[in-house]
Amino acid sequence: MGDTEPLRQADLARADIAAAQALSAAVGWNQTAADWALFIARGRVRGLFDAQRRLVATAATFPYEAGFAWISMVIVAPDWRRRGLARRLMSDCVEALRRERRAALLDATPAGAEVYARLGFVALGGMERWEGEGGGASAATGVAPLPPDAMDRLVAADRAAFGADRGFLLRDFLARDGTRALGSGDAMLVMRRGERATQLGPLVATSPDAAGRLLAGALDLARGSVFLDLLDGWKSLAPLLEARGFHRQRPFRRMALGRGALPGEPARLVCAAGPEFG
Ligand SMILES: CC(C)(COP(=O)(O)OP(=O)(O)OC[C@H]1O[C@@H](n2cnc3c(N)ncnc32)[C@H](O)[C@@H]1OP(=O)(O)O)[C@@H](O)C(=O)NCCC(=O)NCCS
Repeated sequence: MGDTEPLRQADLARADIAAAQALSAAVGWNQTAADWALFIARGRVRGLFDAQRRLVATAATFPYEAGFAWISMVIVAPDWRRRGLARRLMSDCVEALRRERRAALLDATPAGAEVYARLGFVALGGMERWEGEGGGASAATGVAPLPPDAMDRLVAADRAAFGADRGFLLRDFLARDGTRALGSGDAMLVMRRGERATQLGPLVATSPDAAGRLLAGALDLARGSVFLDLLDGWKSLAPLLEARGFHRQRPFRRMALGRGALPGEPARLVCAAGPEFG
């Protein structure tokens, strides 16, 4: 293994959250300590530590019901790149999921897609991350906070769109400071605070009108920087974003190993919960 030999691999525990958060923040990602806590509590995060015990690489598997898991948080510190670390951790993730008979899904950055394609992952779709500023309004026409008794409806709509029950995830988001759940007609969304920006998603809808109305209202209400990951099937909403000064930050490829189609009804998923959660 040459100069990667001194690296020690271990699963991350709660005590590693600060180091993991520093690694994701250093590459400009939006995850918070609460996100890392969830990966550690509900999934498994592999880490590589150098001889000084510095965390230099991570990769997480996050299991969902319905026989699949999301792989995310594949990060290698800049000074350790192109030495096979991502491939090593990814191979470990893929092998573990194969043993559990779960398909592996992920949202790949352009750099990540190079690594995953070599491991056999196939692109089944895509999305674009948009970035801009919220309007900071105190109210928005046609958009209302979801009442607590609408939670089951939100979880059911998300399950239908995404293809697995993410009630535990949505409830975790909603328990965090600053999270909002909003609705308009049949469209619903969650907005939560991230490290760099408010993350808008998931947004689920069956009609373009309701999706557009809810997105516009949510952007009116949001304060400060906003990120959202718009699935490729909803490119019709791009002009709405452009009209508000939003711009494309980067594309993601939604890739899978072990299944030939995305779960759920992808046409109903307007914005992802984020590339880390699907
Ligand atoms: C993407 C990233 C994880 C790759 O980590 P890494 O340890 O340098 O990757 P590896 O050395 O294991 O490379 C595995 C393969 O992918 C290729 N590869 C890696 N990065 C590449 C890049 N930027 N462009 C083209 N190919 C690349 C390598 O050549 C290697 O191919 P090979 O097996 O044929 O030699 C790292 O660049 C990173 O952390 N980037 C920022 C965060 C990010 O984008 N993560 C991916 C999220 S989906």
